Amino acid sequence: MSVLAAGMTLAACAGSSAPIVIDAEPAVTAPEHDSDASSTDATTDTTGSTGAPTSPPTTAAPAGDAIDPGSLSRSLSAGDPRFPGLGSSDIDVEHYDVALTYDPAANALDGTVRIALTTTADTDRLAFDADSLGVIEAVVDGSSRPFLAADRELLINLPQPVVAGTELEVEIIYRAQLDVDRRFADEAGIFVTAGGFWSVNEPDGTSTWMPVNDHPTDKATYTFAVTVPDPAVAVANGALVGSGEASPGTTTWTWQQTEPMASYLTLLLVGDYELIDAGTTAGGVELRHAAIAGTAASAATYSDITIEQIDFFETLFGPYPFDRYGVAITDSTPGLAMETQGLSLFSSADLDGSTGGLQHLLLAHELAHQWFGDAVSPGTWDDIWLNEGFATYAQWLWLAEAGFATVEDLANDALTTLADSGGPVGQPDDLFGTVSYDGGAVVLHALRTTVGDEAFFAGLQAWVVEHLDSSATTDELRAVFERVSGLDLEPFFEEWVFSEARPNRFPGPAASTG
Ligand code: ARG
Ligand code: ZN
Repeated sequence: MSVLAAGMTLAACAGSSAPIVIDAEPAVTAPEHDSDASSTDATTDTTGSTGAPTSPPTTAAPAGDAIDPGSLSRSLSAGDPRFPGLGSSDIDVEHYDVALTYDPAANALDGTVRIALTTTADTDRLAFDADSLGVIEAVVDGSSRPFLAADRELLINLPQPVVAGTELEVEIIYRAQLDVDRRFADEAGIFVTAGGFWSVNEPDGTSTWMPVNDHPTDKATYTFAVTVPDPAVAVANGALVGSGEASPGTTTWTWQQTEPMASYLTLLLVGDYELIDAGTTAGGVELRHAAIAGTAASAATYSDITIEQIDFFETLFGPYPFDRYGVAITDSTPGLAMETQGLSLFSSADLDGSTGGLQHLLLAHELAHQWFGDAVSPGTWDDIWLNEGFATYAQWLWLAEAGFATVEDLANDALTTLADSGGPVGQPDDLFGTVSYDGGAVVLHALRTTVGDEAFFAGLQAWVVEHLDSSATTDELRAVFERVSGLDLEPFFEEWVFSEARPNRFPGPAASTG
């Protein structure tokens, strides 16, 4: 199994992946609550637990406040058509303060997550994605609250209903049990290794190790304080702001991500990592790498390519959107790479010190995601081509720049080899299949030949500027390109993005409609 298809393409788990679709039904049933205002702080009764058989014990406290079941469905979802169970549209999280202690003997992470949020609807409860987490306590604004942790959701009763716009401070104490035997196939989350673990969290893996509003429409800043046994190093997104002894034989590594980030872009690594300060680019981007034992020398090699790629992409897409970038070279699955924000994840089997087409391709692809996917994230998971199609097209642009191929050849090859199956680009059967990657890149090439180079690159830059630190949909992309080109692009999007049968040749320049 490789996530690298033959040739200059990148598609995750080619051939082996089933579409990732979660049941349309919310994973929890509404708990029955007595209207007994005097027992609102009880948190020990487990009789209401409906935890999945495989879950660690969950603690439910069906006490206290009566909840109107009619108000439930909304808080349990961000409304994503592909993952109706993910996220909550009732909250807007500003910051997650994540404290984790890794216990390798027990294969567990003990966590305390403090969440600063604002409600976006009138509500009497909060819902977080918490996939099989053993929740121990939930505290809202300093007082312990009744909660229900079941399967993939954590519901917390508020002391009284609150209106939209209410700021709340939530603290959740829990234990995440890691499955040592789990190997990456297509499911996201944490993967245990000899010296620690790595993770890939797209699209819904973060909720397997912390309670989170797990949908790209709710970006937030993060602090990760991860305590690990010496001599292991813990790596996460953002700037390393400290490391110090927690207790004899353990060290806490604290990372601060001050730029808004979608939850699927979290990076969490534990192992024998060397942290490398590779200076600052001419444009002011700090280069900081993390290299697993034995790979520090190759990180330096990839620094040089990365600097050239940042310069090149900045001329095409506008300024690099974050303060820092780096490569995390891990003992993860060969062929898999991930655009974790500000520090992309690669396998040491791929970034092995050589500098061939594969290395150029992977480095360009994950770097380009920082603009397309990270700075601007998909509004729904059906919009995945806005990530993968764009990163693939950027990868083609770099491969041409570096002399490996021409964009025209890559685009023509992709167009002729794309099967008629796999669903429309705008609603692919497989989130990480060829339709999202090559199919999406083919759409961009067709858009370029339709609107012309000038409008095409102006549109890409406007897209990033207008939706920076946010998320956006395919319709919003169309609006940007209609504005910069002056064309009605509805027929183009119908034909190339939303229809099952793609055209088999690239269009010529469109006649302007004025
Ligand atoms: N976004 C990653 C990449 O293209 C692929 C992630 C695949 N994730 C997964 N769960 N299959 O670069
Ligand atoms: Zn990608």
